[in-house]
Amino acid sequence: TFSGVSAAATEKGNYRHFMQKEIFEQPIVVAQTLTSYIRQIDRTVALPQLDFDLSGVKRITIVACGTSYYAGMVAKYWFEHFAHVPVDVDVASEFRYRDPVLEPGGLALFVSQSGETADTLAALRHCRAAGQVIAVVVNVPTSSMAREADLVLPTHAGPEIGVASTKAFTCQLAVLAALAARLARVKGRLDADGEADIVRHLLEAPACLTAALDSDEAIASVAQLIAPARDVLYMGRGPDYPLALEGALKLKEISYIHAEGYASGEMKHGPIALVDDQVPIVVIAPSGPLFDKTISNMHEMQARGGRIILVSDAQGIAEAGEGCVATLAMPRVHPLIAPLVYAVPVQLLAYHTACIKGTDVDQPRNLAKSVTVE
Ligand code: G6P
Repeated sequence: TFSGVSAAATEKGNYRHFMQKEIFEQPIVVAQTLTSYIRQIDRTVALPQLDFDLSGVKRITIVACGTSYYAGMVAKYWFEHFAHVPVDVDVASEFRYRDPVLEPGGLALFVSQSGETADTLAALRHCRAAGQVIAVVVNVPTSSMAREADLVLPTHAGPEIGVASTKAFTCQLAVLAALAARLARVKGRLDADGEADIVRHLLEAPACLTAALDSDEAIASVAQLIAPARDVLYMGRGPDYPLALEGALKLKEISYIHAEGYASGEMKHGPIALVDDQVPIVVIAPSGPLFDKTISNMHEMQARGGRIILVSDAQGIAEAGEGCVATLAMPRVHPLIAPLVYAVPVQLLAYHTACIKGTDVDQPRNLAKSVTVE
């Protein structure tokens, strides 16, 4: 069903697992995805033809499940920051059973790798009946969600075989960032230079993903610290908070180690009680406006004996790496693309931990690639 994708796309090649192959494909598939949303010549975002007025969108309701939900959470920060549009994000299984207020001028945005997840599809139909404009970010262009949408925003990740989603996530982020820039532009919140800046940063993502993948061996050795743990905590702030959630989800899914992601500032409201010298804490802290805040939360964990694994860039590690049990250096990136780039270390940490534990990486127990029942 993927035009232009050869049989090789569904073979493992030299990789041990599909998940590993898909993690390493990210620079290419993110670049492919960006190509279809960006006009290089004038550094603008180009969306598919719309038959509604994007500038009239008053509110966005994002609904998704699993990893796709975390992509939606990141996008909320972008839509609010760049386009100044209020955003709700909900997991599909909850959304349908509350009474969401869906007013005229609302855009309902569904994020899904498969385009078939039963709860997300049911939420889409609910929003359609409530008169919302329906947009979908999907990886399978022939899927049910794509067929039922007013606006289809495809990711070009190619077939994703590993049950735990990886490359679809970073491609979703690329599309959502482009959409946020376009919305900001048509709403007059961003001028041509501002749009060109966003485009420039997005185009830096593939090379930065490659640089992040260069840390594979370092990440594999840090996984040795994670593998014996019973519980692992992840923390991050702002648009990198969903990365903490995604890191914890990946680890649970494929290594079966209990893990929780928290907003850094929320750690002191409960999870800090869990912290002792047995609990690794993965701190996601790229240089940027929220760095100092995250690091001060990290120090609170260190003061309780927490074993900190700091994921930052060289500058961040130079400033705050002392006393950490391990550090992982990512390339220095613009805050806009940090969620894409920092997806790599959280994916690879989970991957290598699962390999050490000998679990079934591509087919974890009890999980399905696409959940088409409620
Ligand atoms: C399943 C998969 C997850 C995925 C979720 C949502 O639970 O195991 O990896 O994130 O479904 O799938 P979707 O296809 O809607 O993105």
